[in-house]
Amino acid sequence: MTTRSGFAGEGARATSLRTGETPRLHLHSGAPRAILALDMPADPPKTFYLETFGCQMNAHDSEKVVGTLVSQGYRQVQTVEGAELILYNTCSIRDKAEQKVFHRLADYKKLHSQGKRFGVLGCVAQQEGEKIFDRAPFVSLVCGSASYRNLPQMLVQLEAGKQRVTGLDDRETDECFETEFTARTNPHRGYITIIEGCDKFCAYCVVPFTRGKERSRASDSVLAEARQMADLGYTEIQLLGQNVNSYKDPSGKKTFAELLAAVGEVPGIKRVRFTTSHPRDFGRDIVEAIDSHPTLCDHVHLPVQSGSTRVLDAMQRLYSRDQYLERIAWMKEANREISITSDIIVGFPGETEADFEQTLSLLDEVEYDGIFGFKYSPRPNTPSLKLDDVVPDEEKTRRLTVLQEKQREIQRRRYQRHIGQVIEVMVEGRNQSRGQWIARTSQNKVLNFTVREGVSPELGSYVSVVTTVSFPNSLLGEMVI
Ligand code: SAH
Ligand code: SF4
Ligand code: F3S
Repeated sequence: MTTRSGFAGEGARATSLRTGETPRLHLHSGAPRAILALDMPADPPKTFYLETFGCQMNAHDSEKVVGTLVSQGYRQVQTVEGAELILYNTCSIRDKAEQKVFHRLADYKKLHSQGKRFGVLGCVAQQEGEKIFDRAPFVSLVCGSASYRNLPQMLVQLEAGKQRVTGLDDRETDECFETEFTARTNPHRGYITIIEGCDKFCAYCVVPFTRGKERSRASDSVLAEARQMADLGYTEIQLLGQNVNSYKDPSGKKTFAELLAAVGEVPGIKRVRFTTSHPRDFGRDIVEAIDSHPTLCDHVHLPVQSGSTRVLDAMQRLYSRDQYLERIAWMKEANREISITSDIIVGFPGETEADFEQTLSLLDEVEYDGIFGFKYSPRPNTPSLKLDDVVPDEEKTRRLTVLQEKQREIQRRRYQRHIGQVIEVMVEGRNQSRGQWIARTSQNKVLNFTVREGVSPELGSYVSVVTTVSFPNSLLGEMVI
């Protein structure tokens, strides 16, 4: 369960995402490998369905998977029934997320007898490996994120009738998964992965086990992709990494803050976002880059997890409450007003009422613009699985509710500061029934607006809106002509 915060990008964690109907396939000339070496398959095109769970890294991986499959002669369809190959790109961050894929597989099991093939990709695939074949014997493909570059060969094996194909190696590779083919689903805003994996090993987290060791992509390659996206008309770029600010340029040319600035200087790029930042690696230079580059969005997602130094130690988060608050102070001292959001886990083993109170007091101190709250979920392979002093589920639920209610009040109050402000937004869609346009601010807040009769802003365009009403999770205003 997550706390609603109005930050839809992060919401991808909690929801499943069906990759869009008309992806744009573009050639990424900076990519080091050609994956078209295999023969193009014969007509008619084979069909696939792909459903994505989890974080933005998974959402972007799916764009690469779609691009790779399309380049191999497959066609994406929007229903399981209409597909020959059914793929799930999975998440294993909490138990509920992991169970989703097994529920989906159970729902569609009967379709196997119609000759459909099933594949499990992503973090559950990497975590469970061949055990997935035991649990769901009709699955034919199990492939972790570090093996996607081998998908073309795996597809050939599947087509040749091989019953069980696996791609579970390669996590120690020094390269990120780049492909010539990325089928981006949004024509205005796109992701670029700059760092994969994680070496932090927080006591509760599966990511280091599912995504492997940390590896960064060369800054020249990132910039080449950013320029190419700008040429294609993208105006917003979101740089991705499990810990995006732990970035270490393998070519040694740029720090993370310098890379941010350089992407922000690419002609045509109006907004640069980056997620997720780890407090341990969060330097003042990032704040300075935001201050000096208006194209860098004034929003930082800096997950704290707990307000108690004792719990942070047990979580092996590598910082104390005071060190975290020091980073918050840097942002509050900035010239631009930086919106700050966070992730919080309640009910970590051994978390006392007093520890939890410290998390609540941290909310008051920081005054976040949004949080994602989670009940601690014990995960395979993680050190905290062995900890005693488990917090009962009802108590975790209670703490999560208290946390969410407190944060809602903070947001109700804080969002009011935008009333009367004229804010530039990117137009994202239209709510016909309400007669409103849906848009997003640089701070990543939803700011819906009305227009004068006869005015019809284009999707992806930037317009100015004066804010008239505030809610805890969004704003409402009128377009300024
Ligand atoms: N790398 C990022 C977070 C990635 S995972 C960071 O370190 O901040 C996204 C969020 O899921 C985490 O911030 C954490 O709040 C939550 N999470 C991770 N493992 C969890 C677990 N075992 N139980 C509950 N929440 C968890
Ligand atoms: Fe997980 Fe910690 Fe790595 Fe974040 S830093 S991905 S929470 S191990
Ligand atoms: Fe989930 Fe894997 Fe992302 S576990 S949160 S999909 S890195």
